[in-house]
Amino acid sequence: MSTPGGHLPVLPDRVAGLLADVPRLVVDGTLGLGGHSERLLEAGDRVIGIDRDPRALARARERLARFGDAFTAVQGNFRNVRAILDEFGVERVDGVLVDLGVSSLQLDTAERGFSFRLPGPLDMRMGPDAESVRELLDRVDEAELRRILYEWGEERWAPKIAKAILANSDRLETTTDLARVVAEAIPRGAWPKGIHPATRTFQALRIAVNDEMGALEEFLEAIPSLLAKGGRAVVISFHSLEDRAVKRAFAELAHPCRCPPGLPICGCGAAEWKLLTRKVVRPDEEEVSRNPRARSARLRAVERL
Ligand SMILES: C[S@@+](CC[C@H](N)C(=O)[O-])C[C@H]1O[C@@H](n2cnc3c(N)ncnc32)[C@H](O)[C@@H]1O
Repeated sequence: MSTPGGHLPVLPDRVAGLLADVPRLVVDGTLGLGGHSERLLEAGDRVIGIDRDPRALARARERLARFGDAFTAVQGNFRNVRAILDEFGVERVDGVLVDLGVSSLQLDTAERGFSFRLPGPLDMRMGPDAESVRELLDRVDEAELRRILYEWGEERWAPKIAKAILANSDRLETTTDLARVVAEAIPRGAWPKGIHPATRTFQALRIAVNDEMGALEEFLEAIPSLLAKGGRAVVISFHSLEDRAVKRAFAELAHPCRCPPGLPICGCGAAEWKLLTRKVVRPDEEEVSRNPRARSARLRAVERL
């Protein structure tokens, strides 16, 4: 199932199995090119698709036009999903999906500035609500940049890279300039195997300028205010810190009963939620060979009982 623009949805059968077994109203918080939404609509769900990227939204609208009123596209940030549903007068939904990270359309469009292989501006904004990498570099000091690289990139060479980037900041114009400065800051013998030496730095900057962890945390907190009884939340993440936040939030919802022994009815909320994925779900080898982006995907799901 290829998408115009080349973005293949990750774990599509698992997502459809979790969110389309009975016809439902589902929010796709990361519509992208609409690969997951298309599967859900084909199975009879109604879908409200949110994306912060107007270009992705335009492509998805075109692709999913044939579903008519069953599909609604909204430009916005999924961190505001509760307010977005309020605007549509929707109190509760039966499913909510977020498939985090960038789409292939964003990565492969040089002028969006996500790629260290294609020269583009220092941008990396997923949507107009973010700040650009250029703006971030103009505002941060070395300590702050180091923290971003450590935290979101798990980059052990963060101190050298932060120093080199800020020392050269005025001369950096393109993503390939930035990638070169990063590569030169890491001793050649220590370059990571199998990935470009600037991969972690680019990931860290992307997560920072788009406040991706902040949006995820707010979304996770909103889940109880979104789902009807029997409703399910599904999150696909690509970063260990994101997965840790999802695991913790779902475990907190579906916590073991904390009531004193002997109480006739559970009053601590434990009976309200069930983990649908005791263990994290990873794509199999066959999917990874077809869709290399799936390699680091981790899916978790929870249900309101
Ligand atoms: C991995 S792609 C989604 C692909 C989609 N599931 C598909 O099958 O085509 C992630 C999309 O989510 C969007 N996105 C990321 N963070 C977002 C946020 N906080 N709010 C809204 N959209 C977001 C990005 O702009 C991108 O288009």
